[in-house]
Amino acid sequence: MEAKLNTILEEAQKSVINLRSRAELEAFKARLMGPRGSFTECGKGIGKLPKEERPIVGKHINVVKKELELLLNQAFERIEDTELTQSLGADIDPTLPSPDIGSGTHHIISKVRREICSIFRKVGFTVTEGPELDTEFYCFDALNTPPGHPARDDQDTYYLPQSFRPGNLTKREDERYVLRPHTSTVQVRTLLTEKPPLRIISPGRCFRRDTMDATHSANFVQLEGLYVDKNVTVKDLKAILEFFIRALLGEKARMRFRPHFFPYTEPSFEVDFYSGHLEKVGAEWVEVMGCGMVDPSLFEAVDYDPNEWTGYAFGMGIERIAMILYGVDDVRYFYQNDLRFLKQFS
Ligand code: DAH
Repeated sequence: MEAKLNTILEEAQKSVINLRSRAELEAFKARLMGPRGSFTECGKGIGKLPKEERPIVGKHINVVKKELELLLNQAFERIEDTELTQSLGADIDPTLPSPDIGSGTHHIISKVRREICSIFRKVGFTVTEGPELDTEFYCFDALNTPPGHPARDDQDTYYLPQSFRPGNLTKREDERYVLRPHTSTVQVRTLLTEKPPLRIISPGRCFRRDTMDATHSANFVQLEGLYVDKNVTVKDLKAILEFFIRALLGEKARMRFRPHFFPYTEPSFEVDFYSGHLEKVGAEWVEVMGCGMVDPSLFEAVDYDPNEWTGYAFGMGIERIAMILYGVDDVRYFYQNDLRFLKQFS
């Protein structure tokens, strides 16, 4: 039986070289190792051998089996290689680098975000980031927006189920996590972790339950600013925003403040920008941000003395600014991933 096994192996070694296709290889494999294959049949003989010989022959069978499998694998790789070369044709050298498909570029919104950050960096602001998934405390309570306030309505805000409690960020048992509706969360986070004076900006993605149209998106990017020091006034706020709009849109750009209400600033304003860029979209003034003087109650909540510390805060929509800068009249273009649109800005 051992001699027979050796013959099977030797013959296989000789004939495997002549196999030219996968079909031939499969047929060859079946002739050897299929249910009626020569190797299989030979193995069946083991039952007829005397007991003491069986382990020795069994071992030999295994050795031959491994050899045969190796032969078949090598043949498979050789055939596959040949087939690949044939399918590529003689003119192609697959070892050459692939043709240039162009390198990627930054998305238009990322570019505008970077530009805004670089303007504020020039006057000493540092960039900090906050989480996109945050708690009701940071999104609302700490910002003077108590339960029952319309901004907390689940028609406007994406809440996570009560059972979702990934960390120990929550302050109360009944507090839920939300997809943050604005970057103002970072104001509180910074006040709690840093020491004044402070000068930070914080760009990031925000979420609201808005129905998408030309000026609304359920997912958008804001940039928050917070400045805390002694004797800060509205004049300082206006000065920084004047500097910003000129750096971004040119000397002729203009801005106007409209009185408004935000729970975390007092007084509060909405800010509109005007620039020649807007003629492209047929608009005159566009609302781009909310701002105001940090409400003393925010300082109290984080144990800063409101008689000692003052500050301003602002939060702007980056898409709005990109729309002004590039004359884009529909926010949806930014998110449709249409290369014909995106390539214009790369
Ligand atoms: N968080 C406001 C919004 O999303 C914008 C805002 C208003 C930010 C006033 C501020 C601020 O920092 O002081 O509409």
